[in-house]
Amino acid sequence: MPGVAQLSPDESLKDAELAFKLGVPAVLLFGIPDKKDAKASGAYAATGVVQQTVRLLKKELPELLVITDVCLCEYMEHGHCGIVEKTKTHARILNDPTLKLLAQTAVSHADAGADIIAPSDMMDGRVRVIRAALDKSGFDDLAIMSYAAKFASGFYGPFREAAESAPQFGDRRSYQMDPPNAREALREVAQDIAEGADIVMVKPALAYLDVIVQVKREFGYPTAAYAVSGEYTMIKAAAAKGWVDERAVTMESLLAMRRAGADILITYSARDVARWLKEG
Ligand code: PBG
Ligand code: ZN
Repeated sequence: MPGVAQLSPDESLKDAELAFKLGVPAVLLFGIPDKKDAKASGAYAATGVVQQTVRLLKKELPELLVITDVCLCEYMEHGHCGIVEKTKTHARILNDPTLKLLAQTAVSHADAGADIIAPSDMMDGRVRVIRAALDKSGFDDLAIMSYAAKFASGFYGPFREAAESAPQFGDRRSYQMDPPNAREALREVAQDIAEGADIVMVKPALAYLDVIVQVKREFGYPTAAYAVSGEYTMIKAAAAKGWVDERAVTMESLLAMRRAGADILITYSARDVARWLKEG
Protein backbone atom coordinates (compact mmCIF):
# COMPACT_ATOMS: atom_id res chain seq x y z
CA MET A 1 0.00 0.00 0.00
CA PRO A 2 1.45 3.35 -0.96
CA GLY A 3 2.47 5.34 2.12
CA VAL A 4 1.65 2.46 4.48
CA ALA A 5 4.29 0.19 6.02
CA GLN A 6 4.61 -2.41 8.73
CA LEU A 7 6.08 -0.68 11.78
CA SER A 8 7.88 -1.72 14.94
CA PRO A 9 6.46 -0.38 18.23
CA ASP A 10 8.99 2.47 18.38
CA GLU A 11 8.37 3.38 14.74
CA SER A 12 4.61 3.46 15.47
CA LEU A 13 5.27 5.87 18.30
CA LYS A 14 7.08 8.24 15.93
CA ASP A 15 4.21 8.05 13.43
CA ALA A 16 1.60 8.50 16.13
CA GLU A 17 3.41 11.53 17.58
CA LEU A 18 3.47 13.15 14.18
CA ALA A 19 -0.22 12.38 13.58
CA PHE A 20 -1.25 13.60 17.02
CA LYS A 21 0.63 16.87 16.54
CA LEU A 22 -1.22 17.42 13.28
CA GLY A 23 -4.55 16.92 15.04
CA VAL A 24 -5.38 13.26 14.45
CA PRO A 25 -7.19 12.29 17.68
CA ALA A 26 -6.93 8.51 17.51
CA VAL A 27 -5.11 5.55 16.00
CA LEU A 28 -6.36 2.07 15.16
CA LEU A 29 -3.73 -0.64 15.62
CA PHE A 30 -3.34 -3.88 13.66
CA GLY A 31 -0.68 -6.42 14.57
CA ILE A 32 1.47 -8.73 12.52
CA PRO A 33 3.24 -11.36 14.64
CA ASP A 34 6.68 -12.87 14.01
CA LYS A 35 5.04 -16.28 13.74
CA LYS A 36 1.55 -17.30 12.65
CA ASP A 37 -0.04 -20.54 13.90
CA ALA A 38 -3.37 -22.37 14.03
CA LYS A 39 -4.40 -20.85 17.39
CA ALA A 40 -3.48 -17.23 16.62
CA SER A 41 -1.23 -17.24 19.71
CA GLY A 42 0.23 -13.86 18.80
CA ALA A 43 -3.17 -12.20 19.05
CA TYR A 44 -3.56 -12.59 22.82
CA ALA A 45 0.06 -12.88 23.99
CA ALA A 46 0.80 -10.34 26.74
CA THR A 47 4.04 -9.58 24.85
CA GLY A 48 2.33 -9.42 21.44
CA VAL A 49 3.19 -6.59 19.10
CA VAL A 50 -0.12 -4.77 19.61
CA GLN A 51 0.07 -5.13 23.39
CA GLN A 52 3.64 -3.76 23.40
CA THR A 53 2.67 -0.88 21.15
CA VAL A 54 -0.39 0.05 23.19
CA ARG A 55 1.74 0.19 26.33
CA LEU A 56 4.31 2.38 24.64
CA LEU A 57 1.75 4.75 23.08
CA LYS A 58 -0.26 5.17 26.27
CA LYS A 59 2.94 5.86 28.23
CA GLU A 60 4.41 8.39 25.81
CA LEU A 61 1.23 9.94 24.38
CA PRO A 62 -1.45 9.47 27.04
CA GLU A 63 -3.84 11.87 25.29
CA LEU A 64 -3.87 9.93 22.04
CA LEU A 65 -6.90 7.65 21.85
CA VAL A 66 -5.70 4.11 21.14
CA ILE A 67 -8.14 1.74 19.46
CA THR A 68 -7.17 -1.88 18.83
CA ASP A 69 -8.48 -4.07 16.05
CA VAL A 70 -9.48 -7.45 17.46
CA CYS A 71 -9.25 -10.25 14.91
CA LEU A 72 -7.32 -13.45 14.38
CA CYS A 73 -6.58 -13.45 10.64
CA GLU A 74 -3.22 -11.70 10.90
CA TYR A 75 -2.13 -14.27 13.49
CA MET A 76 -3.52 -17.44 11.88
CA GLU A 77 -1.35 -19.50 9.52
CA HIS A 78 -4.37 -19.93 7.20
CA GLY A 79 -5.38 -16.25 7.22
CA HIS A 80 -8.99 -16.76 8.34
CA CYS A 81 -10.59 -14.68 11.07
CA GLY A 82 -11.62 -17.72 13.12
CA ILE A 83 -10.57 -21.26 14.02
CA VAL A 84 -10.77 -23.53 10.98
CA GLU A 85 -11.88 -27.15 10.95
CA LYS A 86 -10.47 -28.84 7.89
CA THR A 87 -11.32 -32.28 6.54
CA LYS A 88 -10.50 -33.89 3.19
CA THR A 89 -13.66 -32.52 1.62
CA HIS A 90 -14.39 -29.26 3.33
CA ALA A 91 -13.23 -26.53 5.63
CA ARG A 92 -15.37 -24.45 7.93
CA ILE A 93 -15.00 -21.73 10.49
CA LEU A 94 -15.85 -22.76 14.05
CA ASN A 95 -17.79 -19.75 15.31
CA ASP A 96 -18.22 -20.48 19.00
CA PRO A 97 -14.75 -21.82 19.81
CA THR A 98 -13.38 -18.68 18.14
CA LEU A 99 -15.25 -16.42 20.59
CA LYS A 100 -13.03 -17.47 23.48
CA LEU A 101 -9.86 -16.43 21.63
CA LEU A 102 -11.41 -13.11 20.64
CA ALA A 103 -12.39 -12.37 24.24
CA GLN A 104 -8.89 -13.28 25.39
CA THR A 105 -7.43 -10.95 22.75
CA ALA A 106 -9.71 -8.09 23.81
CA VAL A 107 -8.81 -8.47 27.49
CA SER A 108 -5.09 -8.56 26.66
CA HIS A 109 -5.47 -5.28 24.75
CA ALA A 110 -7.38 -3.79 27.68
CA ASP A 111 -4.66 -4.97 30.08
CA ALA A 112 -2.13 -3.13 27.94
CA GLY A 113 -4.15 0.07 28.23
CA ALA A 114 -6.27 0.26 25.06
CA ASP A 115 -9.05 2.87 25.14
CA ILE A 116 -11.45 1.24 22.67
CA ILE A 117 -11.72 -2.37 21.52
CA ALA A 118 -12.72 -2.89 17.88
CA PRO A 119 -13.68 -6.44 16.90
CA SER A 120 -13.48 -6.95 13.11
CA ASP A 121 -13.81 -10.74 12.89
CA MET A 122 -17.58 -10.92 12.19
CA MET A 123 -18.19 -14.07 14.26
CA ASP A 124 -21.74 -14.20 15.63
CA GLY A 125 -22.07 -13.25 19.28
CA ARG A 126 -18.60 -11.80 19.68
CA VAL A 127 -19.64 -8.42 21.07
CA ARG A 128 -21.56 -10.11 23.89
CA VAL A 129 -18.66 -12.39 24.77
CA ILE A 130 -16.08 -9.59 24.59
CA ARG A 131 -18.30 -7.27 26.67
CA ALA A 132 -18.71 -9.94 29.35
CA ALA A 133 -14.98 -10.73 29.41
CA LEU A 134 -14.03 -7.06 29.71
CA ASP A 135 -16.56 -6.50 32.50
CA LYS A 136 -15.31 -9.54 34.37
CA SER A 137 -11.74 -8.26 34.20
CA GLY A 138 -12.68 -4.85 35.58
CA PHE A 139 -12.84 -3.04 32.23
CA ASP A 140 -16.53 -2.23 32.40
CA ASP A 141 -15.85 1.36 31.32
CA LEU A 142 -13.99 0.38 28.16
CA ALA A 143 -15.87 1.05 24.92
CA ILE A 144 -16.45 -1.39 22.08
CA MET A 145 -16.49 -0.16 18.51
CA SER A 146 -17.85 -3.08 16.55
CA TYR A 147 -17.31 -3.66 12.87
CA ALA A 148 -21.06 -4.21 12.74
CA ALA A 149 -21.81 -4.04 9.02
CA LYS A 150 -18.66 -5.41 7.44
CA PHE A 151 -19.18 -6.63 3.91
CA ALA A 152 -17.20 -9.35 2.10
CA SER A 153 -15.45 -6.85 -0.14
CA GLY A 154 -12.88 -6.73 -2.91
CA PHE A 155 -11.79 -3.40 -1.47
CA TYR A 156 -9.78 -5.13 1.29
CA GLY A 157 -7.17 -6.45 -1.19
CA PRO A 158 -4.34 -4.00 -0.47
CA PHE A 159 -4.78 -4.39 3.30
CA ARG A 160 -4.48 -8.16 3.09
CA GLU A 161 -1.28 -7.84 1.13
CA ALA A 162 0.13 -5.27 3.57
CA ALA A 163 -0.90 -7.35 6.60
CA GLU A 164 -0.03 -10.71 5.02
CA SER A 165 -3.51 -11.90 6.02
CA ALA A 166 -5.15 -13.10 2.81
CA PRO A 167 -7.00 -16.40 3.38
CA GLN A 168 -4.91 -19.34 2.10
CA PHE A 169 -8.06 -21.14 0.91
CA GLY A 170 -11.70 -20.23 0.42
CA ASP A 171 -12.93 -16.73 1.18
CA ARG A 172 -14.57 -14.78 3.99
CA ARG A 173 -18.13 -14.96 2.70
CA SER A 174 -19.33 -17.32 5.45
CA TYR A 175 -18.71 -14.68 8.12
CA GLN A 176 -18.54 -11.32 6.36
CA MET A 177 -21.70 -9.85 4.85
CA ASP A 178 -23.37 -10.22 1.49
CA PRO A 179 -22.87 -6.93 -0.46
CA PRO A 180 -26.39 -6.67 -1.95
CA ASN A 181 -28.10 -7.22 1.40
CA ALA A 182 -28.68 -3.89 3.18
CA ARG A 183 -31.37 -5.33 5.46
CA GLU A 184 -28.97 -7.86 6.89
CA ALA A 185 -26.64 -4.95 7.67
CA LEU A 186 -29.36 -3.37 9.79
CA ARG A 187 -29.97 -6.65 11.61
CA GLU A 188 -26.25 -7.05 12.30
CA VAL A 189 -26.08 -3.53 13.69
CA ALA A 190 -29.17 -4.05 15.85
CA GLN A 191 -27.67 -7.24 17.21
CA ASP A 192 -24.30 -5.67 18.01
CA ILE A 193 -26.02 -2.79 19.83
CA ALA A 194 -28.11 -5.28 21.81
CA GLU A 195 -24.92 -7.16 22.71
CA GLY A 196 -23.26 -3.99 24.04
CA ALA A 197 -21.54 -2.17 21.18
CA ASP A 198 -20.96 1.53 21.94
CA ILE A 199 -19.99 2.56 18.40
CA VAL A 200 -21.07 0.77 15.23
CA MET A 201 -19.09 0.74 12.02
CA VAL A 202 -19.94 0.39 8.36
CA LYS A 203 -17.18 -0.95 6.13
CA PRO A 204 -16.22 -0.31 3.34
CA ALA A 205 -17.51 3.25 3.29
CA LEU A 206 -17.73 4.79 -0.17
CA ALA A 207 -19.54 1.90 -1.87
CA TYR A 208 -21.90 1.56 1.13
CA LEU A 209 -22.99 5.14 1.80
CA ASP A 210 -26.62 4.02 1.64
CA VAL A 211 -25.94 1.65 4.53
CA ILE A 212 -24.36 4.46 6.57
CA VAL A 213 -27.46 6.59 5.98
CA GLN A 214 -29.80 3.81 7.07
CA VAL A 215 -27.75 2.82 10.12
CA LYS A 216 -27.54 6.40 11.39
CA ARG A 217 -31.26 7.04 10.76
CA GLU A 218 -32.45 3.80 12.26
CA PHE A 219 -30.32 3.70 15.42
CA GLY A 220 -28.92 7.20 15.98
CA TYR A 221 -25.83 5.55 17.44
CA PRO A 222 -22.28 6.83 17.18
CA THR A 223 -21.46 5.57 13.70
CA ALA A 224 -18.03 5.05 12.18
CA ALA A 225 -17.20 4.78 8.49
CA TYR A 226 -14.05 2.89 7.50
CA ALA A 227 -12.57 4.11 4.21
CA VAL A 228 -10.72 0.88 3.48
CA SER A 229 -7.45 0.09 1.75
CA GLY A 230 -8.93 -0.30 -1.74
CA GLU A 231 -10.69 3.06 -1.53
CA TYR A 232 -7.46 4.72 -0.45
CA THR A 233 -5.21 3.05 -3.01
CA MET A 234 -7.56 3.79 -5.90
CA ILE A 235 -7.26 7.48 -5.19
CA LYS A 236 -3.50 7.20 -4.68
CA ALA A 237 -3.02 5.33 -7.95
CA ALA A 238 -5.16 7.70 -9.98
CA ALA A 239 -3.48 10.70 -8.39
CA ALA A 240 -0.03 9.27 -9.17
CA LYS A 241 -1.07 9.10 -12.83
CA GLY A 242 -2.21 12.68 -12.70
CA TRP A 243 -5.81 11.63 -13.37
CA VAL A 244 -7.40 13.02 -10.20
CA ASP A 245 -6.47 15.63 -7.65
CA GLU A 246 -5.62 13.60 -4.52
CA ARG A 247 -6.59 16.27 -2.02
CA ALA A 248 -9.89 17.20 -3.69
CA VAL A 249 -11.01 13.62 -4.23
CA THR A 250 -9.97 12.42 -0.78
CA MET A 251 -11.73 15.30 0.95
CA GLU A 252 -14.84 14.89 -1.20
CA SER A 253 -15.04 11.16 -0.40
CA LEU A 254 -14.67 11.71 3.34
CA LEU A 255 -17.17 14.55 3.20
CA ALA A 256 -19.66 12.20 1.54
CA MET A 257 -19.29 9.79 4.47
CA ARG A 258 -19.96 12.62 6.91
CA ARG A 259 -22.94 13.75 4.83
CA ALA A 260 -24.30 10.19 4.93
CA GLY A 261 -24.22 10.36 8.72
CA ALA A 262 -20.86 9.02 9.87
CA ASP A 263 -19.62 10.60 13.11
CA ILE A 264 -16.20 8.98 12.98
CA LEU A 265 -13.95 8.51 9.95
CA ILE A 266 -11.27 5.85 9.83
CA THR A 267 -8.87 6.60 7.00
CA TYR A 268 -5.33 5.88 5.86
CA SER A 269 -5.24 9.54 4.75
CA ALA A 270 -5.69 10.84 8.30
CA ARG A 271 -2.34 12.60 8.49
CA ASP A 272 -2.74 14.24 5.09
CA VAL A 273 -6.28 15.26 5.89
CA ALA A 274 -5.24 16.77 9.23
CA ARG A 275 -2.53 18.74 7.43
CA TRP A 276 -4.94 19.91 4.72
CA LEU A 277 -7.46 21.00 7.33
CA LYS A 278 -4.74 22.99 9.09
CA GLU A 279 -3.73 24.66 5.85
CA GLY A 280 -7.37 25.63 5.34
C1 PBG B 1 -9.24 -8.13 9.52
C2 PBG B 1 -9.44 -6.83 8.84
C3 PBG B 1 -9.46 -6.56 7.46
C4 PBG B 1 -9.60 -5.19 7.34
C5 PBG B 1 -9.67 -4.66 8.62
N1 PBG B 1 -9.60 -5.69 9.54
C6 PBG B 1 -9.28 -7.47 6.33
C7 PBG B 1 -10.35 -8.44 6.00
O1 PBG B 1 -11.38 -8.52 6.64
O2 PBG B 1 -10.08 -9.18 5.05
C8 PBG B 1 -9.64 -4.46 6.04
C9 PBG B 1 -9.09 -3.09 6.11
C10 PBG B 1 -8.84 -2.44 4.81
O3 PBG B 1 -9.02 -3.00 3.72
O4 PBG B 1 -8.42 -1.28 4.89
N2 PBG B 1 -10.41 -8.82 9.78
ZN1 ZN C 1 -9.85 -10.93 10.34
